[in-house]
Amino acid sequence: MATPLSDYFSEKQIISINESIAPINIWEGAVSSGKTYASLWRFHEETDIGPDGPYAIITKTYDTFKRNLMPILEDVLGRHVRYFSGKREVYFKDKLVHVIGCADERAEQKIRGTTFAGAYVDEATLIPESAFKMLQSRLRIPNAKLFCTTNPDSPYHWFRKDYLIDNPDVRSWQFLMDDNPFITKDYKDYLKRQYKGLWHRRYILGEWVQAEGAVYEFFDEKVHVIDYPRSSASYYIVGVDFGTINPCAFVLIGYNPHRSPNLWVEDEFYYNSRVKQRQKTDGELADDLQKFIEGKKIEAIYIDPSAASFKVELSRRGVDGITDANNDVNNGIGFVGMKLNEESFKICRKCTNLIKEFQSYVWDEKAAKMGVEKPKKENDHALDALRYALMTHFFGKDDIPTSPQDLERRWREAKMLGPDLPAQFQNPQGQGYQF
Ligand SMILES: Nc1ncnc2c1ncn2[C@@H]1O[C@H](COP(=O)(O)OP(=O)(O)O)[C@@H](O)[C@H]1O
Ligand SMILES: [Mg+2]
Repeated sequence: MATPLSDYFSEKQIISINESIAPINIWEGAVSSGKTYASLWRFHEETDIGPDGPYAIITKTYDTFKRNLMPILEDVLGRHVRYFSGKREVYFKDKLVHVIGCADERAEQKIRGTTFAGAYVDEATLIPESAFKMLQSRLRIPNAKLFCTTNPDSPYHWFRKDYLIDNPDVRSWQFLMDDNPFITKDYKDYLKRQYKGLWHRRYILGEWVQAEGAVYEFFDEKVHVIDYPRSSASYYIVGVDFGTINPCAFVLIGYNPHRSPNLWVEDEFYYNSRVKQRQKTDGELADDLQKFIEGKKIEAIYIDPSAASFKVELSRRGVDGITDANNDVNNGIGFVGMKLNEESFKICRKCTNLIKEFQSYVWDEKAAKMGVEKPKKENDHALDALRYALMTHFFGKDDIPTSPQDLERRWREAKMLGPDLPAQFQNPQGQGYQF
């Protein structure tokens, strides 16, 4: 006799697995609530009992598939899943499933040519709308079904407007962390501490809320500002938001992996030509930067990609470590927010412009209503410099968790490390968690 589902899944997961027979089935809600586990199991079942024909798994990139879905597939399906690295396909028993990365608008082309018998989309709000709609139109085989997971985003997001509200083809389930009995309370508490403000409402409470008000509403001078660095830096990185008419800002960030805080903004440079009523030349600002980093062990200097002439000036002078900054604004903001929530990131009191900007940087509410989420381009020069450096230097690097999925993976790995937990998993008293 087959083992009952209840031996392997939570109550909520079982309900969703049984009910997901609509043309479009959506698991939405908080992080780590069990959405991916349940939906992947259901999708695997569909490839077995559903219509014949090609099946597809769509993720943002092939790498996201390998990092986020493959471990879960191995866990859920064990030896029944096989995949050949390099080939963008996976086998459930002997059923072939294509894996398609949909990072940008061009992804639509990859889907256009095929007719699918069923598809799975992980993190649907991160897929371009054009690719998603193309996929939906390619599910032509009778009874073909679509299975999607997502965390909440803006209430004006196309995915919510077109699929989660009043769509007769859709069935959806909202998951919260408490629906997941498979993770410990410690881990739930840890996740709750990681996300504050907008991200808390979306990733923890599972709400589709608009980005409004202060971006860093949880910034708190009492918590985040220190008088002086608490240790010497192993090395420094520098962020540069270049401007001649607009303000020009540099930030100096110290890093010492063995101390707490392990990351701190030690100094800033801020020149506002409007206030000083004089513009500085590229050469003068290059002098300022050289003076700013003098005598410091600098690992890299991250400069906004548009500052071409300034970069030329710096390389002419033989300044080392000049690197183009990653200017992914929203992920960068999320990343800086997560750093603030970790106990390990601080700002020295002398960085008065940066502190002021943390308190006055706001979301663009007009744009949000049009479905575009972005901060207002005001009070952002020192913050941009900080974001360039933190994001480009640390985002996606293996030892710094970034997305909820990365955090989850780190947590799983940490369980095997025993008492020598990485800093991220130490509780505020400095003791490791008990598993
Ligand atoms: N049915 C299950 N059996 C065992 N562990 C589970 C199960 N469902 C969830 N988990 C655990 O909870 C974690 C989060 O589940 P996941 O489905 O990845 O959440 P979400 O997709 O909502 O972020 C998983 O990594 C796993 O450790
Ligand atoms: Mg998931």
